[in-house]
Amino acid sequence: MTKSSDVVVLGAGSGGYASAFRAAQLGMSVTLVEKDKVGGTCLHRGCIPTKALLHSAEVADTMKFGEPFGVRGRFDGIDIDGVHRYKDGVVAKLYKGLQGLVSHHKIDVVPGHGRYVGARSVEVDGERITGGSVVLATGSYARTIAGLELGDRIVTSDQALTLRTVPKRVVILGGGVIGVEFASVWASFGAEVTIVEALPRLVANEDEWVSKQLTRAFRKSGITMRTATKFVSAHEHDDLVSIALDGGDIIDAELLLIAVGRGPNTADAGLVEAGIELDRGFVTVNDRLRTNHEGVYAVGDVVPGLQLAHRGFQHGVFVAEEIAGLNPTPIDESGIPRVTYSNPELASVGLTEDQARERHGDVTTLVYDLAGNGKSQILGTSGGVKLVKAGGPEADGPVVGIHLAGGRVGEMISEAQLVVNWGAHPNEVAQLVHAHPTQSEALGEAHLALAGKPLHAHG
Ligand code: NAI
Repeated sequence: MTKSSDVVVLGAGSGGYASAFRAAQLGMSVTLVEKDKVGGTCLHRGCIPTKALLHSAEVADTMKFGEPFGVRGRFDGIDIDGVHRYKDGVVAKLYKGLQGLVSHHKIDVVPGHGRYVGARSVEVDGERITGGSVVLATGSYARTIAGLELGDRIVTSDQALTLRTVPKRVVILGGGVIGVEFASVWASFGAEVTIVEALPRLVANEDEWVSKQLTRAFRKSGITMRTATKFVSAHEHDDLVSIALDGGDIIDAELLLIAVGRGPNTADAGLVEAGIELDRGFVTVNDRLRTNHEGVYAVGDVVPGLQLAHRGFQHGVFVAEEIAGLNPTPIDESGIPRVTYSNPELASVGLTEDQARERHGDVTTLVYDLAGNGKSQILGTSGGVKLVKAGGPEADGPVVGIHLAGGRVGEMISEAQLVVNWGAHPNEVAQLVHAHPTQSEALGEAHLALAGKPLHAHG
């Protein structure tokens, strides 16, 4: 059987459904092929359920640490079934809403495993669907280590999200975003946590200052960090998993989480056979997200770069508008905001100090400590704001990078991204009024200081 539509989207995760919705809004007929559930990794196995776990962790900490705020209470432990009920309830509600949007946009969802077969066509269970355009949006999977078999005690984030117990001792391999978020969850749930990271610092893609803030806070929370440490092997025995590290150390734990990055889902989607150009498994695209096949685009985690849901949304919208001939502006990857929901939260946009030096030569940086911010003191959080300006101290250059660390700073990234993406200069932001007392005042104060007129800071 053969059918056709203006756009065929392979994969209904963040990138795929965003392109489907936008294409439908622009009057195109859309077929969306999905083998699992609309919403993909972000909704079902990623952003949403992990942030729900992190919120349970925050509530646990609130109960444990009420005393300094004059609140008596007792932390009695984690009801893991209750945690899952809450998390799954949030996912279910959003899933229902998303399905409603799919119907609203009159998108034809074809369930099943789709393969791109060339000639702008996708095959699903023997049925061929041909599009005016095809969007490849098959997403990513949790990578493991070659030769290491997953099991009851060796898991990736997929299984970690559904554990029916809180492990007493856990080792996390990989101190990237997933590693540090799960470290925060389990530490707050009462586990003894060790992170093993091959590179010299945690969250190595972030500015070095951010890694230092996180390391200091994790040390205070009792999380053990083994950076610059190579993993050798792991094997399950009895009720434990033994993890051998370079140098001879062996750590016994109840659980080993593998969080060493995510790979693109391209091996099983017919791409190689059809002649789509790949680079280390990722789909090669130009700045308009076009592949080497005319009329075939790729979006989201299969495209090399930041693997973030909101990048997927942006890619999806871009491609639908490109297909519709609206000539959208290409996406600047460095302008995409990044938030890590560990405790403390980390958030950044634009260039790190090192990247800015490479691109601009001379740069000026400023750190504003949350110790000077009233709301942060009320909340009892430490951390700060780091600004990176292009040009020397006297130059009137734009702010090219903003880095945040501290409780709740993730929500501050929206202002930070406006500053960086609009190319604002410190004196322009310094004029804007920030409500008092808010944490966002710290952004205002940092820009005041960088513009040479500090208020609640030593000049
Ligand atoms: P990642 O790339 O952020 O971190 C992986 C870490 O594992 C790296 O620091 C790497 O050096 C380390 N590593 C790799 N092999 C190792 C080995 N053999 N021994 C020790 N360390 C090793 O990848 P992660 O954390 O798995 O996350 C995957 C993707 O998902 C990322 O792109 C991330 O941005 C995204 N994500 C985003 C979230 C957010 O926006 N809040 C939340 C969770 C994931």
